[in-house]
Amino acid sequence: MTPLRARAQSIQPSPMAPPPARLLPLLILLFHLPFSLSSRRHHHHTPSASPTPSPSPASSDSAPLAVLLACNATRFQPTCVSTLSGAGSDTSASDLLAATLSSLRARIPPAVSTAKSVLAASSNVNLTNAATNCLIFLSLSSHRLSPSSPSLLSASTAMLHLYDCWSSYKYVNFSHAISDAMAYLDDTIAVNSNYISMLAARQRYGDKTSHWRPPQTERDGYWPPAAASAAEAADVDALGVPRGLPANATVCAAGCEYKTVREAVAAAPDYGEGMFVVRVKEGVYRETVSVPWEKTNVVLVGDGMGKTVITGDLNADTPGVSTFNTATVGVLGDGFMARDLTISNTAGPDAHQAVAFRSTGDRTVLDTVELLGHQDTLYAHAMRQFYTRCRVTGTVDFVFGNSAALLHDTSLVVVPRQLRPEKGENDAVTAQGRTDPAQPTGIVLSRCAVNGSDEYMAMYREKPEAHRVYLGRPWKEYSRTVYVGCTLAEIVQPQGWMAWSGDFALKTLYYGEFDSAGPGGVASRRVAWSSQVPKDHVDAYSVDNFIQGHEWIPKA
Ligand SMILES: *[C@@H]1O[C@H](CO)[C@@H](O)[C@H](O)[C@H]1NC(C)=O
Ligand SMILES: *[C@@H]1O[C@H](CO)[C@@H](O)[C@H](O)[C@H]1NC(C)=O
Ligand SMILES: *[C@@H]1O[C@H](CO)[C@@H](O)[C@H](O)[C@H]1NC(C)=O
Ligand SMILES: *[C@@H]1O[C@H](CO)[C@@H](O)[C@H](O)[C@H]1NC(C)=O
Ligand SMILES: *[C@@H]1O[C@H](CO)[C@@H](O)[C@H](O)[C@H]1NC(C)=O
Repeated sequence: MTPLRARAQSIQPSPMAPPPARLLPLLILLFHLPFSLSSRRHHHHTPSASPTPSPSPASSDSAPLAVLLACNATRFQPTCVSTLSGAGSDTSASDLLAATLSSLRARIPPAVSTAKSVLAASSNVNLTNAATNCLIFLSLSSHRLSPSSPSLLSASTAMLHLYDCWSSYKYVNFSHAISDAMAYLDDTIAVNSNYISMLAARQRYGDKTSHWRPPQTERDGYWPPAAASAAEAADVDALGVPRGLPANATVCAAGCEYKTVREAVAAAPDYGEGMFVVRVKEGVYRETVSVPWEKTNVVLVGDGMGKTVITGDLNADTPGVSTFNTATVGVLGDGFMARDLTISNTAGPDAHQAVAFRSTGDRTVLDTVELLGHQDTLYAHAMRQFYTRCRVTGTVDFVFGNSAALLHDTSLVVVPRQLRPEKGENDAVTAQGRTDPAQPTGIVLSRCAVNGSDEYMAMYREKPEAHRVYLGRPWKEYSRTVYVGCTLAEIVQPQGWMAWSGDFALKTLYYGEFDSAGPGGVASRRVAWSSQVPKDHVDAYSVDNFIQGHEWIPKA
């Protein structure tokens, strides 16, 4: 996923074909024909490989009322009616949800087989990378759908990872095998979207499906009721990564159990329920660290920002490396935490996407951590994340992803572009990537500061009109970003927010501010598609309401 490269892209799920009909021609292509990447001449153009026509209105009309009512909550109604074609007129809301979930789960193994076949037949680094990443994403989707009734967030994350797989294929869409695999994922994403829309409708309206309506956002004037009010909320400043945790493994250049962070992480037990604390002593560690899915509750503790430094230089301009793979520290496991260290990506001045820290896992906490990079520094990829007392540097889109992420008391520091900085630039601090209005995701910045580094400020003062900083831009159609009580330096443009491409997402995004302070915080000239959050609803973005922080964030 690459904010700069990715074109403004909305998914147009194609109508459903049952998996076997869709898959058969694909499997025949993969296994019985010479596989060719660059040429279609070798492929048979079987008519069944092209999308099947939309189910006619007649087939919807004949569906049972229970199905029509439930499908009224969804964005892809013909797909919904066809998914639930086996249901009777007295099927309950829970049974309709269960049937949709089981149909969704059943669509993943064929997608995995396809990705394996693509990988086996690949003779090119880009295709190998796309298929390898797809296999990771599909396995994450399965994990997030595996509970008997996944939460809205978990099912939303399954959809994010299906979309991640689709996006990986987009860069290698040079064969029928790939374009069929993408069409199959489109249909699967539509089923997943319908599933989360129904979950959201049940949450909002209860079991009575006659009340169900499609998902709404703040742009439609809808805020979920706040479960916890600000008055009873915990003191956010007290939350973070506990100090003085005893170490389970120690890393240093000489005389410790481990010389690399990577080896220490590998020593953590699989699916550990207690914390596994890796103490990383002062020093510079030139390595990339992946925390796999199985390594849960890993905690990295350093000697301080700028003292313990983990540094890498991967970037997405390298063939076979996508943004997802560039992270110096990349986390898949749930329960990851870190404090008192610096994580940096020093990819050269020609590099584009180069992530310092990525978390795909649930319940991520970073406390007093410095993240240094340029484009795409912090990839807050999936599930729930909390950052406090941190410092994030970058140029463009330097906080991005589609998690429910809350950054508190954190500085966002704009640095000069590495190439010809004097030329001037437009930098967006955030690029949130929500693709569906039912996803409970977004980036919330609470009591943060947006400012420039000394070098950036010097350049800015010389030529203020050339150096423009914006609070965010919409990477995806339902992008959601809210600044609550932040201090914005003069580099933040009076318009506040920046478009991605033409009018893409401007009607569907939600960009809010509440109580912005500082010279960049003046609301009077903000773009028409931004909002001031009504006071009554600002609680929706609290640590407790937005990421259920009271359930999982420890006291520092
Ligand atoms: C679906 O919802 C619309 C309102 O959004 C309503 O007019 C229509 O009657 C509903 N369909 C059914 C089958 O109830
Ligand atoms: C993939 O490529 C095919 C053939 O060029 C094209 O028809 C299709 O629209 C592409 N799919 C996407 C999602 O870009
Ligand atoms: C880490 O160490 C603590 C105490 O030193 C211990 O209670 C805990 O079980 C260890 N965790 C793991 C995962 O080994
Ligand atoms: C892989 O993709 C890069 C662009 O991202 C391109 O420059 C390179 O030629 C591709 N490699 C192959 C083998 O297709
Ligand atoms: C921004 O940083 C400069 C120092 O580089 C400082 O003087 C200024 O007060 C900061 N502004 C805000 C709004 O935090």
